[in-house]
Amino acid sequence: MIIYIKNYKGGVGKSTITKNLASGLEKSNLKTAIVTFDAQNDSLAMFGHDWEAGNGFKHFVKTKNDCSIHIRPNIHYYPLETDVFGSNMKNKIKDAFEYLKKTYQVILIDGAPAVDGVLDSVALEISNKIIVPIMLDKSSVNGLARFLETEAGQKVNLIAPNFYGGTKVNKAYFKALEEFTKDSSVTLLNPIKRTALEEELSEKGKTIFETEDKRSFETRDRYIEMIEVIFND
Ligand SMILES: Nc1ncnc2c1ncn2[C@@H]1O[C@H](COP(=O)(O)OP(=O)(O)OP(=O)(O)O)[C@@H](O)[C@H]1O
Ligand SMILES: [Mg+2]
Repeated sequence: MIIYIKNYKGGVGKSTITKNLASGLEKSNLKTAIVTFDAQNDSLAMFGHDWEAGNGFKHFVKTKNDCSIHIRPNIHYYPLETDVFGSNMKNKIKDAFEYLKKTYQVILIDGAPAVDGVLDSVALEISNKIIVPIMLDKSSVNGLARFLETEAGQKVNLIAPNFYGGTKVNKAYFKALEEFTKDSSVTLLNPIKRTALEEELSEKGKTIFETEDKRSFETRDRYIEMIEVIFND
């Protein structure tokens, strides 16, 4: 299964959700690959690994030589050395994902804020599920509503509100999204709270499932629910 974590907006939690989702999948013993579309490779740092310039996903697309970094017993990370891909590479990119599907049960694509059109259009085409992390504020919700009306937006399966602060504004936009999604095929996930713990964990290169801190329990439940929705849908 290929899951694309996508939002053109920056800083909404794409990489954080990719990280914690991969870690949650690992608890279920699923072999997972993370392919990042962000040449900054910052989700690698969130797992406590440094990116040393070298071969990445583009090299893999061209040669099928594995360039993954083994970051956890069941998680391999495919870094991205450049996000410049010509449209003549579309079929090769698709082949690369087909190849990965033979090894991994789940492939998570960590989207980039301003991703190259070729990578994005392939991911939109081949992904089985699209998760859109958003913030519960005016610009995010309006941006999402516009996106859902586009052709690409039809493929969105899951909306993951992040940075929830329980404010009046957050609650109002969550309610609006509930209304908006209730008769559609899109699942609105329960909001993931903004927590200092998440920042601390990313600094330490740990996931929400790799701490005993009791502040993690509620957020963990959100990811467990996300996994249930992904596999029961
Ligand atoms: N629920 C949360 N509570 C607190 N901090 C969070 C939460 N989710 C993400 N963050 C922090 O917010 C910052 C941005 O998150 P992240 O990098 O995951 O967003 P992104 O959408 O991947 O950004 P970009 O568009 O730059 O790739 C990170 O420092 C991350 O640790
Ligand atoms: Mg990111």
